[in-house]
Amino acid sequence: MPGTSVSLSPLDEARFGFRTARAFVQNLTDFPLIEDFCKKEGIKFLVLRCNTDKIDLVHALEKKNFSLMDTLLYFRYSLPKEYAFPEDEKIFPVNFEDEARILEITKAAFAGYLSHYHADPRLDIEKSNEAYLDWASRSCHKEIADEILIAKSGGKINGFLTLRKNSPNEVEGPLFAISPEAQGQGLGRFLMNAAFQWTYEQGAKEFIISTQITNLASQNLWTSLGMKLYRTLYTFHKWSNEE
Ligand SMILES: CC(C)(COP(=O)(O)OP(=O)(O)OC[C@H]1O[C@@H](n2cnc3c(N)ncnc32)[C@H](O)[C@@H]1OP(=O)(O)O)[C@@H](O)C(=O)NCCC(=O)NCCS
Repeated sequence: MPGTSVSLSPLDEARFGFRTARAFVQNLTDFPLIEDFCKKEGIKFLVLRCNTDKIDLVHALEKKNFSLMDTLLYFRYSLPKEYAFPEDEKIFPVNFEDEARILEITKAAFAGYLSHYHADPRLDIEKSNEAYLDWASRSCHKEIADEILIAKSGGKINGFLTLRKNSPNEVEGPLFAISPEAQGQGLGRFLMNAAFQWTYEQGAKEFIISTQITNLASQNLWTSLGMKLYRTLYTFHKWSNEE
């Protein structure tokens, strides 16, 4: 469980043009640390996360005009000792020339998606969409992913799942999408099973993945695969001129 932390967010700042910080707050008593940092650094836009059971902290944030933007649910799969992928299925890692198709899928699958960026009316919607494209592109270049698995149907790439090793024991799937016209045909389930297999091949024991509380398709998929919900977080935004 991470402790309280706060840092500048150069990526958000470059994307939206506001001096931005990101924080995680564990307890109400830690909150002055965040306020002092924001004051010292002249922060205009603060993205703050906390555990959902910290109700005293949530009420204090509400009094300070923090606005709730999303609720994140984290799911975990603990791999069995032996993990076998069905023989007729095969893991496909991404190739460099697949980037354009990955970006096309990202654009279509996340159009109108309710992320914490999209939920904030003060942020430009196009720039919020670009955040996902940027994320996918940097994953293709292996800057923020160790591998990307792809799923094909009708001879075409129609889905992908990025993978990152958080530690020797834990793999995370940060970005996951199926092109809208190919959804509901089992490609998402195939990629999740491929991710479990990849995790197993890395010698790791746990696979984790998260989504917004509004994303019922992902949650249904993951629970149907035996994944367990183990962590829930609120995301708040605060603008410095909203006292
Ligand atoms: C979520 C997503 C990846 C699922 O992929 P998919 O290929 O459509 O899913 P599958 O066809 O493999 O479905 C597997 C299971 O997921 C669940 N599911 C899929 N689509 C669903 C929907 N629209 N509503 C509710 N449950 C759904 C069901 O449990 C389904 O099993 P069933 O068909 O036996 O009922 C896909 O819908 C998607 O890309 N959505 C937009 C982007 C996104 O939300 N990405 C994930 C962010 S974490």
